[in-house]
Amino acid sequence: MADHVLALDQGTTSTRAIVFDADGGIVATAQREHQQIFPRAGWVEHDPIEIWTNTQWVLATALDEAGLGPSDIAGLGITNQRETVIVWDRRTGHPVCNAIVWQDTRTQPLIDDLAADGGTDRFVDATGLPLATYFSASKIAWVLENVRHARRDAEAGHLLFGTPDTWLIWNLTGDTRGGIHVTDVTNASRTLLMDLATLDWSDELLKIFDIPRSMLPRIVASSGVVGDVHEPPAARGIPIAGILGDQQAATFGQAAFDPGQSKNTYGTGNFLLVNTGTEIVRSQHGLVTTVAYRAGDEPARFALEGSIAVTGSLVQWLRDNLGIINSAAEVARLASTVDDSGGAYFVPAFSGLFAPYWRPDARGALVGLTRYVNKAHIARAAIEAAAFQSRDVIDAIVADTGTALAELRVDGGGSRDDLMMQFQADILGIPVVRPAVVETTALGAAYAAGLATGVWRDRDALRAQWREGARWEPRMPQDEADRRVRLWRKAVTKSLDWVD
Ligand code: G3P
Repeated sequence: MADHVLALDQGTTSTRAIVFDADGGIVATAQREHQQIFPRAGWVEHDPIEIWTNTQWVLATALDEAGLGPSDIAGLGITNQRETVIVWDRRTGHPVCNAIVWQDTRTQPLIDDLAADGGTDRFVDATGLPLATYFSASKIAWVLENVRHARRDAEAGHLLFGTPDTWLIWNLTGDTRGGIHVTDVTNASRTLLMDLATLDWSDELLKIFDIPRSMLPRIVASSGVVGDVHEPPAARGIPIAGILGDQQAATFGQAAFDPGQSKNTYGTGNFLLVNTGTEIVRSQHGLVTTVAYRAGDEPARFALEGSIAVTGSLVQWLRDNLGIINSAAEVARLASTVDDSGGAYFVPAFSGLFAPYWRPDARGALVGLTRYVNKAHIARAAIEAAAFQSRDVIDAIVADTGTALAELRVDGGGSRDDLMMQFQADILGIPVVRPAVVETTALGAAYAAGLATGVWRDRDALRAQWREGARWEPRMPQDEADRRVRLWRKAVTKSLDWVD
């Protein structure tokens, strides 16, 4: 009987497949990293073919490890790094260039041009998003302007656009001629091209960004069957039954289905989402409005999101660019050899600063240095940066919603770091709670697919599955936490001032 669910999590640094059982327990996992390509300062690319190859491998390997075949799997749920742009030729299936990753800032000149006429909030009413390089629209426009023959081919109807979910579904469901061209409503809400009120592409925005509508995928629900897997053969016949952007998937995986519920994911960046139900809430404090999920024909549910570009990727930077650690896991060990950051504060504004500042011109700042500061203090300052940035976003959420958070639900790889979670509780002054299953992103995609295929009856069944795994209570005296937040904000002003 098909009572397992397969999840595919195509993230910024790796692609993972996880097989879940009907209790939401992990049966098998397979994972592969892909190359991060930095052709110039500010540019970040991935190879879409490498991602597709890794996808086939992880799906086949996870099923193999689980000892299961397609007939044991009720559905496949797909979740993905959001906003990242892939453009390919439907005639050949070949991408016309590398994927332009959400962190890439090459389109700042186009954003500045558009903002000159109406400011960075000019599309916020329609899309919930500020004008920023982060979202997909300017990246698609860049491809059309800069890749040879791209505009001509797009206007002839040959080119297709997709975020990684769309690219993978097109490949998964197709033979050599390609398959279904769809995205879900959560991913579409990150493009700066979808109208939140209609949940459809906006003709006005397509015109402004000069993007032919024929390139865009059909927008579908987050939970619902869209087609069957054709490739790889090991997964052939499994219905694709869930699609969610990874941060929305983590929210779903935390069973945060209802207004007021929230989660903070510690990954490459940090993304804090608070569910606002069927209401589209506009932020006055630097948060974005986004679709949380849409189950079948139900009305869409919305969320306010605080997106932080760099948290976990700062640890990779310590490893790859400074060489002060050999592995990402070492950072917590190194940081725990000292009691504090020795007065150092690290603002990792490598892609400018996202929420709540939205300042593309901000640059990284490491301040408060003395001869006393050593690499352990810097490691600690890097870990603390995730907690301080999350505090800034939570203050914005409280200001927007008028309600204090009682506790913070966390997930993602970084939430395994006890030191960081204790510091997070200290800096927020509220408990931090981690669920038993930390892989909430994949779990959320599995939930969406399992709801659509009858593995779970309804969302109540999923609410009942949520289990607390760990909890950290605030321990730092309030005045000390306040002092550190004050110094952090001073460090942020240095980062914001760093304009050429
Ligand atoms: O908005 C970007 C986000 O979806 C990336 O998440 O976990 O792949 O870094 P992650």
